[in-house]
Parts: sequence; C-alpha cells; structure tokens
Amino acid sequence: MSAVPNAPPATIPHHVAIIMDGNGRWAAQRGLPRIEGHERGTDNIRRITFAAGELGIKCLTLWAFSTENWRRPPDEIRGIMRILGEVILRETEELHRQGAQLRHIGSLDGLPDDTRRAVLEAIELTKANNKLVLTLAFNYGGRQEMVEAIRALVAAGLTADEIDEPAIARFLYTRDLPDPDLIVRTSGEHRMSNFLLWQAAYAELFFTPILWPDFGPDDLCAAVAEFGRRERRFGRVSAELVSDPTA
Ligand code: FPP
Repeated sequence: MSAVPNAPPATIPHHVAIIMDGNGRWAAQRGLPRIEGHERGTDNIRRITFAAGELGIKCLTLWAFSTENWRRPPDEIRGIMRILGEVILRETEELHRQGAQLRHIGSLDGLPDDTRRAVLEAIELTKANNKLVLTLAFNYGGRQEMVEAIRALVAAGLTADEIDEPAIARFLYTRDLPDPDLIVRTSGEHRMSNFLLWQAAYAELFFTPILWPDFGPDDLCAAVAEFGRRERRFGRVSAELVSDPTA
C-alpha cells in the first residue's frame, strides 16, 4: 500500500468521510423500490469522487454498508451486494486511470465470493496510486473495529504499559489513514451511527438534509467551504482568547 498523499492547504480537508444516507427515502419519494435509490446513490459515488479529487481532497471515505445493515430485508441486502460487485467491475479501470487508490475498511466476510475477489483485485491493482485514496467502508462498524483491534493487540502480546493511543490506532482498520478532518452525513440525520468512532474525535461534523442521491458537487463544495470557516482548536484555547504578550 503506498503512502497517503501529502496534506492539501489547511482550508481544504485532507480526509473527508461521508455517511451516504437517504437512498431509501429518495426512492420512496418517487414511488420506486428502495434498490433504485441505492442504484442512484451508487451513481453519485462516481461524481462525488471526481469532485473530491478536483477540490484537492486527498482521502475520501464512503460508508456503503454497516455491520447493522445485515438486519435489512434479504432482498435489499442481495441487491446492495450485487451493486457492489457491479460497481467494482465497472469503475476500477477508470479509478486506476485517474490515479485513485482503492482501500476497504470493515470485514469482507459474508460477501459473495466473486464480489470479495473483485474488491481484493481492485485494491491490488490500484495500490501504488496516490492522487486520491478512496476507502470504501463496507460491512464496517466502529465498535466491531475496536473489538478486533483489542483482540489483535492482546494476540500481539502488548503489555498494559505498552497500550497508548498510538498503539491502539496501529491496530485499527484505518492504521494507514489520517483521521477524518470532515465528516458529512446526508439526509437530515444527526448521528454517527457507529461510524469511525475512534477516528472522529476531532473531526468537524457537517449535516445536510439533502438525500445522498441528490448530494452533488456543489453541496460538497459547500461542506468544504463551511469546514474552511471552522476554527479547529484540538483542545487548545482560541487564538483570540490568548492575551498578546506584546500588547
Ligand atoms: C443509506 O440509505 C444507504 C446505505 C445503506 C449505504 C449506501 C449505499 C449505496 C450508496 C449503494 C451501495 C453502494 C455500494 C458501493 C455497494 P438508506 O437505505 O439508509 O436510506 P433511508 O435512510 O432513506 O432508508
């Protein structure tokens, strides 16, 4: 896996993660089956990935299926698995041509064999690319990630003294990714829903009522512009509140 590209200027988030929510409601509003919403949501991945690259975002993480989504009706799950297989086969060449590196976080267990193979082949093909790191969170859950990290940490024989924040981060799925700077959730929900729980500690959060299939490049620009206006203090006091020793 090649390194993550260098950080862009501070007003552009280095790593944007998106909770792509609202496909079902988008379909229901049009009297369409839910799977049509997922199809349109998947088409949107292409235009938002392209827009992210144009904006200078270096890492884009998209949440496509959570560990809790297995509770959905079997037909919908089968549909999403089919879409995943198709989108990987259809888009990988173009992603590769554009210099994007595909990664996956979560577990590939439970995916149909050919889909799992297609995902692994796409990751292998694009692993040396470094224009944009596109991470697909598929069958991902933040708590599950922590459980797996703790198990791996114990199996590696770390002692209590050796366990600190960097040590834990090294055992997460995201070990080779910077933490997200900006997390976007579409569709008007104001929850993290078990997404990047550890990594979101200092992320700026952006919630929009727009449903994912309708979330276009202009909306991504608006989220990035809002990010540029936020003051990120990481626990420090605001620069304005620090008295000027020269005054
Ligand atoms: C949320 O809509 C969407 C998801 C379950 C994940 C996003 C899925 C896609 C974009 C399609 C699949 C993509 C790939 C790459 C396989 P929802 O169904 O929760 O919408 P609702 O809240 O309106 O019901």
